[in-house]
Amino acid sequence: MSIADAPAIAALNPPRRVLLGPGPSPVDDRVLRSMAAPLVGHLDPIFVRTMDEVQELLRYVFETNNRLTMPISGTGSAGMEAAVANLLEPGEEIVICINGYFGERMHEMALRVGAKPVRVECEWGGPVDLEKTRKAWRDSNAKVLFAVHAETSTGVLQSLEPLREIADERDGFLMVDAVTSIGAHSIGIDRNRIDACYAGTQKALSCPPGLAPVTFSDRAVAKIKARTTPVGSWYLDTNLLTAYWADASGGTGGGARAYHHTAPISMNYALHEALRIVAEEGLEARAKRHQRNHQALVAGVEAMGLAMAVAPEHRLWTLNAVSIPEGVDDMKVRSRLLNEFNIEVGGGLGIFKGKVWRVGLMGAGSTENNVLLLLGALEKCLKDEGYKPKDSGVSAAAAFYAAN
Ligand SMILES: Cc1ncc(COP(=O)(O)O)c(C=O)c1O
Repeated sequence: MSIADAPAIAALNPPRRVLLGPGPSPVDDRVLRSMAAPLVGHLDPIFVRTMDEVQELLRYVFETNNRLTMPISGTGSAGMEAAVANLLEPGEEIVICINGYFGERMHEMALRVGAKPVRVECEWGGPVDLEKTRKAWRDSNAKVLFAVHAETSTGVLQSLEPLREIADERDGFLMVDAVTSIGAHSIGIDRNRIDACYAGTQKALSCPPGLAPVTFSDRAVAKIKARTTPVGSWYLDTNLLTAYWADASGGTGGGARAYHHTAPISMNYALHEALRIVAEEGLEARAKRHQRNHQALVAGVEAMGLAMAVAPEHRLWTLNAVSIPEGVDDMKVRSRLLNEFNIEVGGGLGIFKGKVWRVGLMGAGSTENNVLLLLGALEKCLKDEGYKPKDSGVSAAAAFYAAN
């Protein structure tokens, strides 16, 4: 074939998977349809109104009145980079709690923006060690404390109040990763006085990956404005992004907008629709649904004699880490789930590789149907692998649903 020959590539025809991994999660057809809507320009009044509404809806899910609340163009990692690149100046210390893979990623990003990260090493599969964190905070000159609210690598939910208390010892800034909690677990930005928070669209918001909602408190914005060095990343500089996203009138709608970059129009349509779905259900009802399906899954998993990797009081509802029983082949089971049952579940990350399955019950994926389907399929795969389930997982989950 010469380079001038046009390649004959068939049209894509991806299957409709049951996405029960660590993300992306299943997306409502309403969201998919919204992405097929006609494009308008990134400064078209219709798009400007879309931006205002996306911001209003994001404030609702973040539970905040923060004016600087917007989606960064990029995946969750772009939100992560935006938070650390804006809030920290080169040479500045930051205390980073590391109890999983994403704390480690933040450490790497902090190094790359020239900050001086102070690591708080915590056990994977457990919450942040508060005594170690307090000591690291007291021993450092850091103004920023970072933790992951929902550690997707381990399935641990971190309570934020004690971290706020530690940061308050010297009026510190609290920075939080809410990629896997947004839209399922309450984040309570204003209630918990979180100063910088980033999230992702592809988990419990049930929107395709591609945008990273972020929010910054007024005092975080003041810190950013008082920087003595420019933000290292032009693309992620909130001072520049504000001219495009945060409307100049200070309220909703009507303000002037300046071009910064060409916003991914269709992704914003998708987020707009996904957030409308969240608002229709309501945050509280959505949290209850996630909790109930998580509990049913746990009832099923434990009935089969399998163990959850995280203690009950620290478990996420969105990401369930199930310990792989001795003698069972991780990859074989996951391949069979995918190829025979069309179900995706995730494998372990970092030190949990080969040790856990990560079962996501996120957004539109958190349903009774999906829990029962997965438990049935898993039971079959496990039996074929020679593992003898103690009891029926499906029956235990069905009994849980009947009683709750
Ligand atoms: C807790 C957490 N933080 C950050 C990220 C990075 O997001 P992305 O993969 O969308 O860039 C992820 C992705 O799974 C995550 O789970």
